[in-house]
Amino acid sequence: MFQVKVMSVRDYGFAVDLANTMDWGMDVTDFAFNQSLEPDGCLTLLDGAVPVGIATCVSFGKVGWFGNFIVNLECRRQGAGRLLLDHAVKYLQGRGVETIGLYAYPCLEDYYGKFGFKTDNLSSLTVMHNSNVQTCICSSIDFGVQPDFSVLTRFDSEFFGADRSRLLRSILLQEKFSLYCASFVGKEMVGYILSKTWGPIAEVGPLVCHPDRLDMALELLKVMLQRLVNRPVTLYLPQNQGLLEAFLLTVGFRKSFSLSRMFLGESKIQSGVCLAESLERG
Ligand SMILES: CC(C)(COP(=O)(O)OP(=O)(O)OC[C@H]1O[C@@H](n2cnc3c(N)ncnc32)[C@H](O)[C@@H]1OP(=O)(O)O)[C@@H](O)C(=O)NCCC(=O)NCCS
Repeated sequence: MFQVKVMSVRDYGFAVDLANTMDWGMDVTDFAFNQSLEPDGCLTLLDGAVPVGIATCVSFGKVGWFGNFIVNLECRRQGAGRLLLDHAVKYLQGRGVETIGLYAYPCLEDYYGKFGFKTDNLSSLTVMHNSNVQTCICSSIDFGVQPDFSVLTRFDSEFFGADRSRLLRSILLQEKFSLYCASFVGKEMVGYILSKTWGPIAEVGPLVCHPDRLDMALELLKVMLQRLVNRPVTLYLPQNQGLLEAFLLTVGFRKSFSLSRMFLGESKIQSGVCLAESLERG
């Protein structure tokens, strides 16, 4: 019989192996990071005593995100996924979440639809990758000044639709592993970009910028990529970011695959979110 429990550190190896059967490129630090943010939101599905599935959730006030959802091939189509997803939804709602987001393979839109998730037709997401950022990318802008953390999180929540200061703080606290720059017009913040590096691999995002100043989003992206030369870089680009996509294609990024953004509840994300933070946290 299937049952759901909170993931333990001992399950991380299983979680990594299972996730990577889908080529998700996960490692133990990914699950440790998710669990540091949401200790009870990382879930393991058991068949008797044997782990057979995983999922992760994170809550940001009224918005939550669901990801890393996978069940062992042999256990699929027996209601295991339903148990895990129902558990995750109840968990997030119990934390006060009103809107749950996720990124779905397009072929699973009907699957999530059965649980009430609706596709956000305004924005699918393309995973883009550059195996070795090499181009000398120049930006004329000097992004020397860093704002107070409270200014950053207030700006971010205006566009993300929820306060994800817990996540942003956790990324920024890993000083050696994160890079960050912000852009201002006068005293007004107009955008910021953040990246995480895990060993040699870098993930760029979030990039949040006022929709009237997408020129600044492009400059922020250029500055960040300048700092990541000679590394493999992955990023998650919403469909409506044509300017950024055109630039990325000229500097060696390739489209890997696309995902549909789905919500249970009302979408709160605004168009200023130019790069997602990750697939499992929005
Ligand atoms: C997605 C996944 C977790 C579903 O798990 P599962 O245990 O097979 O799902 P369930 O058996 O609980 O299915 C629940 C319902 O969805 C249906 N269903 C299952 N897979 C489906 C699919 N691929 N498309 C549409 N419906 C599907 C089932 O028939 C069932 O319907 P019912 O309740 O009316 O009988 C599993 O297929 C999986 O691990 N896939 C690989 C990883 C993956 O793609 N993860 C999602 C990333 S977005």
